[in-house]
Amino acid sequence: MPAPNATRLILFSSRQYDADTFRQANEAFGVELDFQEAHLDAQTAILARGFTAVCPFVNDGVDAAVLEKLHEGGTRLVALRSAGFNHVDLHAAKRLGITVTRVPAYSPHAVAEHAVGMILTLNRRLHRAVARTRDGDFSLNGLLGFDLYGKTVGVIGTGIIGRVFGNIMAGFGMQVLAYDPGPPAQDLLERGARYVGLDELLANSDIVSLHCPLLPSTYHLIDEHALARMKRGAMLINTGRGGLVESNALTGALKSGQLGHLGLDVYEEEGGLFFEDHSDSLLQDDVLARLLTFPNVIITAHQAFFTREALIEIASTTLGNVKAWEADAPRNVVDVPQD
Ligand code: NAI
Repeated sequence: MPAPNATRLILFSSRQYDADTFRQANEAFGVELDFQEAHLDAQTAILARGFTAVCPFVNDGVDAAVLEKLHEGGTRLVALRSAGFNHVDLHAAKRLGITVTRVPAYSPHAVAEHAVGMILTLNRRLHRAVARTRDGDFSLNGLLGFDLYGKTVGVIGTGIIGRVFGNIMAGFGMQVLAYDPGPPAQDLLERGARYVGLDELLANSDIVSLHCPLLPSTYHLIDEHALARMKRGAMLINTGRGGLVESNALTGALKSGQLGHLGLDVYEEEGGLFFEDHSDSLLQDDVLARLLTFPNVIITAHQAFFTREALIEIASTTLGNVKAWEADAPRNVVDVPQD
């Protein structure tokens, strides 16, 4: 039972798995919880009236208008249940005196392992092979892959997730090239990784994997020009954020063969599409529809984080953030970036 003055937390865009894990984790915290399937936007913000704390998910647009509505309704804490915070107007939150917290690290392994899964799937054409054998076709034409061993992988962003990813790829016997404006990761250096400039990484990597946050400085980091600077036929994996890649540039690069394989777990225009079943309606996004026709493209719907371990860690860190804020000792606070 929650204490009489316990903070009330409303979760937007919540699904059964959120409710299950938050209820389980909440046994240790006693926060009063309310689960809403609706996305958080200027219309639905009214549902948060009377809730001191609001918990949006990655595709909820927490812009200034939404934050003002939340503030009017008494909200003082936005407790994100994600590592990324690009969907929040941090300047507006600061102006309104709303604290924003996040879950900086819940399972870097979940995301890194999903990126590796995409690489293996694309390289060995597992998505095609499985469909083929189910249809009684046991031929191998078109399924030829390459050894990862001895090839070069470029890791863009060697924070918590990029480091885990780089270490796994080093375990395959790959040469790791890394690009990060921040300090280098010691464990990657010890595994033989080399920090290089972005151009050198793009020009020399057989596989490029994105693990940096979406910031104004990283928006469309991989655009038409960056794709042209990549090794011909290389693989691009994005489990970071959709906006890191200029989606409109992908089709041309795939058609010309400049881009050999593409794995996306995130997509620029994923809001309103990902996390929901649209199989009964016509896909209105022509870029995504075209990408889905390529045999050398796989797209997953922002599921890299989706492991049991990650969900329970997300729930307990989010609830811990709420309790710490309630006790006037906020933690995992997102500050307004310098950028
Ligand atoms: P982190 O903050 O530990 O690491 C990010 C790294 O990117 C830092 O080392 C930073 O210096 C670097 N960076 C900043 N600007 C850069 C630039 N211009 N070029 C290259 N590197 C740059 O973050 P973490 O936990 O490793 O997560 C990375 C991103 O992964 C998150 O921001 C989020 O967008 C995404 N993510 C995706 C998930 C999914 O389910 N697909 C789940 C969790 C995170």
